[in-house]
Amino acid sequence: TQAMALPGVKVVILPDDEGAGDLFRRECRYAGQEVAAVAAMTPEIAEDALHLIEVEYTELPFVVHADKAMENGAAQVQDDRPNAGEPRVNEQGDVNAGFAEADVKVDADYKTEVHTHVSLETHGSIAHWEGGKLTLWASTQAISATQGGLSQFFGIPNSDVRVIKDHMGGGFGSKLGPRPEYAVAALLARKAGVPVKLMLTRKEEHLTTGNRPDSFQSVEIGAKSDGTIVAYKRKNFGSGGIAGRAGLPGAPYLYEIPNFRVEQIDVYTHGGPQAALRAPGHPQAAFAMESIMDELAVKLGMDPMELRQKNDPDETRREMVKIGAEKFGWSKRRQTPGPATGIQRGMGMGSGVWGGGGGRTKAEGVIHPDGSVEIRCGTQDVGVGTKTVIAQIAAEEFGLTLEDIIVKIGDTNYPPSGGSGGSTTCASVSPAVKNTVQMAKLKLFDTFASSIFGVSPHDLEAKDGKVFVTSNPSKSMTWQQAAAQLGDEPLIVQGQWVPGYSSSGVPTVQFVEAEVNTATGVVKVIRVVAVNSSGLIMNPLLWESQVNGGVLMGIGYGLYEERIMDPRAGYMVNPNLEAYRVIGAMDIPEIEVVAYDQPERGVIGIGEPPIIPTAPAIANAVYNACGARVRAIPVTPDKVLAALAEVREG
Ligand code: MOS
Repeated sequence: TQAMALPGVKVVILPDDEGAGDLFRRECRYAGQEVAAVAAMTPEIAEDALHLIEVEYTELPFVVHADKAMENGAAQVQDDRPNAGEPRVNEQGDVNAGFAEADVKVDADYKTEVHTHVSLETHGSIAHWEGGKLTLWASTQAISATQGGLSQFFGIPNSDVRVIKDHMGGGFGSKLGPRPEYAVAALLARKAGVPVKLMLTRKEEHLTTGNRPDSFQSVEIGAKSDGTIVAYKRKNFGSGGIAGRAGLPGAPYLYEIPNFRVEQIDVYTHGGPQAALRAPGHPQAAFAMESIMDELAVKLGMDPMELRQKNDPDETRREMVKIGAEKFGWSKRRQTPGPATGIQRGMGMGSGVWGGGGGRTKAEGVIHPDGSVEIRCGTQDVGVGTKTVIAQIAAEEFGLTLEDIIVKIGDTNYPPSGGSGGSTTCASVSPAVKNTVQMAKLKLFDTFASSIFGVSPHDLEAKDGKVFVTSNPSKSMTWQQAAAQLGDEPLIVQGQWVPGYSSSGVPTVQFVEAEVNTATGVVKVIRVVAVNSSGLIMNPLLWESQVNGGVLMGIGYGLYEERIMDPRAGYMVNPNLEAYRVIGAMDIPEIEVVAYDQPERGVIGIGEPPIIPTAPAIANAVYNACGARVRAIPVTPDKVLAALAEVREG
């Protein structure tokens, strides 16, 4: 009532209001969960109005850390199940027999922290109702899933919801689903009778829109004295907050090990829900695996690169390691760690793997009689240059320039595609567009090939703005003349994803040189060589940008970023960009991006893989620099100093 009375306030929505039950709850499960929404004439008035809503909270028991949540008597997060689920077991061979035949054994505990997405553009949308129809301009990685979610929420047909996504300031997995903020904006707009814009604040972004779960991994690995790994055991747990699902991929990860046993437990805590974050699960898995490989190499007295090569079943990755080591100068690496004094540099490496691949996309090509060309596809550009790649494919097929192609994407009115997740967009969209433009070209040629040139449409070619007979290029016309043969009607062709132009499987390798100040514990990454294979690289500049971005995010994950929860107050104490530290301009190293070109494999994705190996490569470089083994990321100065103290104490 007080909020509504404030001049400029249009709508207030509380948990008991009609339609709000699925968005706001009277019983919250974490600090930061949505409880009310206000729409006003300005964001400032809305903020004031929020403060006028008095919420009386009754504090219930809570637990915000995964290890505490597993203890007997911990506050229960979900009504219908315990905090810790049954372990999921993955095993092969006989792990005890494997360890019995091992000459060398290492066991160690590794920890990774909760990592938030920090998309520079927060989650949000503009909702506009006309009659019973909703249009939503949303910051989303998935226009079609958002359309589906909203039509379900409001009980209206899909065709009454249109979702538009023009540009994007980052998503990294957190904008894949039909987000509750979109429904809140649409509900406010419906009640207000005017369009509503809702963008989350940085704090809300940190608390509610998702995160990468933490991980606690107890690992044992055993090898023969020649470096052949014979046994691996891992017990790990982690928490995705109220969403659970903190499991790690693959078992073990990367290497061929005849005997292994992996036990994983998902834990609920009173924290914001996890969401897919750039290569979900992989950076956690890679941190422990690539750290223990380094520790095993030390114990074996072996070069850690040789140890990896010996046990890595992926031939492509083994080749990539060779190329990367050469470019990086791995042979100049210290054979034993540097001293625990002064400023020391060291070298480390890490590997990873990702799936990628494509499918499920339709596209429409339009050739207008004036020669202009449009490609329409219901995919979305999440900031990676999807529009450019589409224009490239069409321009190449029609013999035109990029500027000649009008690309229309990011609208559910166009033929559908899937969400931009899993590094699948390029491999989904490219084949669909290729198929569409090939058909469009043949259909255009069919209108005049025989009447004008006396040949079949397959005997014609389009290049450099001309259409000509392949066997006799002097028989030609301009593209405009060719298009004019259509008469009054544009040519419209629908195509779809077809196999043969894409595949999946992205190995990734990184080499890091880092500098450690042994007096302060501060680590600085000096140089990174990142080698990636992703089949046919559609656009080298865009591809390289993805790798650079992955490496930068990987450095943030390895050195700086962590959600800090107060165990007594129960909330995140650093939901901002001061205390939640992402990488800044001064932290950026020299990055050399190396493409392991495999055009014969077709298009594969690249967005996710390059974040995977960075953190362990940094931790391994820190060890090589000064002998400090840090088994928890982020590798912050306190942890480095503690590890150095151990080195000095012997
Ligand atoms: Mo990605 S984490 O599938 O956007």
